[in-house]
Amino acid sequence: MRPIKVGLLGLGTVGVGTVKILRDNATEISRRAGCEIMVTHAVVRNIDKAKAQGFDIELSTDASTVIDNPEIDVVCEVMGGEEPAKGYILQAIANGKHVVTANKALIAIHGNEIFSLAQDKGVMVAFEAAVAGGIPVIKAIREGLAANRIQSVAGIINGTGNFIMTEMRDKGRAFADVLAEAQALGYAEADPTFDVEGIDAAHKLTILSSIAFGIPLKFEAVYTEGISKVSSDDVQYASELGYNIKHLGIARKTQRGIEMRVHPTLVPKRRLLANVDGVMNAVLVQGDAVGPTIHYGAGAGEMPTGSSVVADIVDVARTLTADPENRVPHLAFQADQIEPLPVLASHDFETGYFLRMQVEDRPGVLADITAIFGKHEISIEAVIQKEPEDHESVATLILLTREINEGAMNDALTALNGAPSVVGEVSRIRVETLA
Ligand code: HSE
Repeated sequence: MRPIKVGLLGLGTVGVGTVKILRDNATEISRRAGCEIMVTHAVVRNIDKAKAQGFDIELSTDASTVIDNPEIDVVCEVMGGEEPAKGYILQAIANGKHVVTANKALIAIHGNEIFSLAQDKGVMVAFEAAVAGGIPVIKAIREGLAANRIQSVAGIINGTGNFIMTEMRDKGRAFADVLAEAQALGYAEADPTFDVEGIDAAHKLTILSSIAFGIPLKFEAVYTEGISKVSSDDVQYASELGYNIKHLGIARKTQRGIEMRVHPTLVPKRRLLANVDGVMNAVLVQGDAVGPTIHYGAGAGEMPTGSSVVADIVDVARTLTADPENRVPHLAFQADQIEPLPVLASHDFETGYFLRMQVEDRPGVLADITAIFGKHEISIEAVIQKEPEDHESVATLILLTREINEGAMNDALTALNGAPSVVGEVSRIRVETLA
């Protein structure tokens, strides 16, 4: 088979990883692909900086040298962001080119439009690197688990956030200090609030939900809460109760609709997910036939993400000449079988809760608090009361509840925050047993 020519849009962390892997593992890769794969062109912002990489690639600042170039078979978008990436990809598809992208924001927000055009044009758009860096979880769900009705997906899908939480917990390092290190290592997004506030994880969860349940991409429906409000007290008390706090993306199919949520979550320490630390990612997929499967690996970085990009390029190379109808569908289900199931609002979630509050240190307070839970039919699983520090008149109360409807919990929280014995705001973190 003739060599496959790849044009890169972007030569940052992921682009450089992609070129290095294709160069260093060229023989092994062509043995798998059945042809040679060559990166011939790259579109960059700064030619001098790109030249310093020393690659033998034609460099330009003009995207048309790749997207309109008749010699290019595969356009590989590793620049990130919505625009101009979206315009470039649509143009490349319109020109009949196959696309490989690592761009989770683009797929989560504009994927429906992009796949629809790709379907019309009979070209592939591959996006393994968009979710969980080097872990081939898209392929696992889309192909390896094709026999299953997927029941849920729960994952640590932002390496930067997991790295921050792990370093703060284990080394007591300051938030800003760890974030700066994640940026220097090339893990963090251009705008790190995307990592810290859960937006990056919500992009990835949107993609996982679609391929797991056969629903259209619906980023705006994901409930998203970041890690910035998790305190070291929460981490310590959760640990005393036998839990680690992880920033999870959870997608679950229920009788009433799909839950899609990203938030800090207490996970029992005995679960594998609770022990996924640092920049590592892991995705727990529950299928009705297979049961639980866990997919673990590096969630970010030059070479792991490059590994997924190259695997997609190999896939494209192998199926380039296949009838478009016989390729693996973009969102795992045939395009005419994608169904818009209802997505539940947060007050319909069912989960457990960890609550931390400051209460007045006087007789009858615990009874007042538990009465509020009783009134809202919330069952308490565990309670810890910390003695007040010397000369203080407030005690810390930590409660763990059984699984309950979030609407009922919100009502109980309103009552707790208004109770005369509660000082300040009650802090709430969701709990998942992942049983
Ligand atoms: N900022 C992302 C992360 C990069 O930290 O996981 C990989 O998508």
